[in-house]
Amino acid sequence: MSITPHNEGHFSSARPKITALTIQEKKQRHQPITCLTAYDYSTARLVDEAGIDMILVGDSLAQVVLGYDSTMPVTLEEMLHHTRAVRRAVKSAMVIADMPFGTYHNDLKEGVCNAVRFVKESGAEAVKLEGGEKRVEMIKHVLDAEVPVMGHIGLTPQSVHKMGGYKVQGKDLSGIERLMKDAVALDRAGVFSIVLEGVPREVAAMISNEVSAPTIGIGAGPDCDGQVLVFHDIVNLTFAEPAKFVRRYGDAAALITTAVHQFKADVASGAYPSDKESYHLPKEIKAELDAILRRKHLKAYSR
Ligand code: KIV
Repeated sequence: MSITPHNEGHFSSARPKITALTIQEKKQRHQPITCLTAYDYSTARLVDEAGIDMILVGDSLAQVVLGYDSTMPVTLEEMLHHTRAVRRAVKSAMVIADMPFGTYHNDLKEGVCNAVRFVKESGAEAVKLEGGEKRVEMIKHVLDAEVPVMGHIGLTPQSVHKMGGYKVQGKDLSGIERLMKDAVALDRAGVFSIVLEGVPREVAAMISNEVSAPTIGIGAGPDCDGQVLVFHDIVNLTFAEPAKFVRRYGDAAALITTAVHQFKADVASGAYPSDKESYHLPKEIKAELDAILRRKHLKAYSR
């Protein structure tokens, strides 16, 4: 009796491999870039097979998968673990791992070692670091170690305490100047793309025009070179009111809830499993077993 493995038949299609170079070329050709987060094998596989350009194993994992109330507590080991699962699923998309809070803030050597671990131990093709000018030195060292870097400025969730909450950034002239300086510094350092999160549309448009690196917006309007959203947001799996910029494309919560209730009801009523959903003995074995049982039964009566 053989039971089909769940991941049988994978890696048969021939979609082109997306690299940092592909992403940069897309900006030059004015082709919008798509990015979604994923944190496990099954969702990463679906996202990849749908033809999304980049899959970010975001530290939003801390909130949407692990149930923390911020991104801060997720550890390097947890991020590596989830990036490995995503890596096993993805054939075409570029896989980017988020460096968690505290893993690139102290020592340059330590930051580079941690970035290299994502490539070596989890198969990530790039890492993402939050911060602008003040992260440039670290970013240059990571790039020197041959690890492509995605920058991330604007509303950077790892700075939530410093920002005093999850607030749109760059709303006044000094904020705009700060953001522009950060974007230019990242671009000059050589990042292959820059996430612009929680930034007014007008500011994101200015930055996107100014820098050669593709800008990937989240809550930054339609003028960025690409868009990223958290997978759990677009399928309604976050148990919270969505932010203004989130568009729901499906209702996984409703789908899962209906399926679970139906399973519970079917088991309670005996409707699941049916005979069709059961394994059966081969005919000869069943006949032999029946004969043995008949003999036993007769013996019991003749005692
Ligand atoms: O962790 C994450 O999901 C992110 C995206 C919001 C860009 O950093």
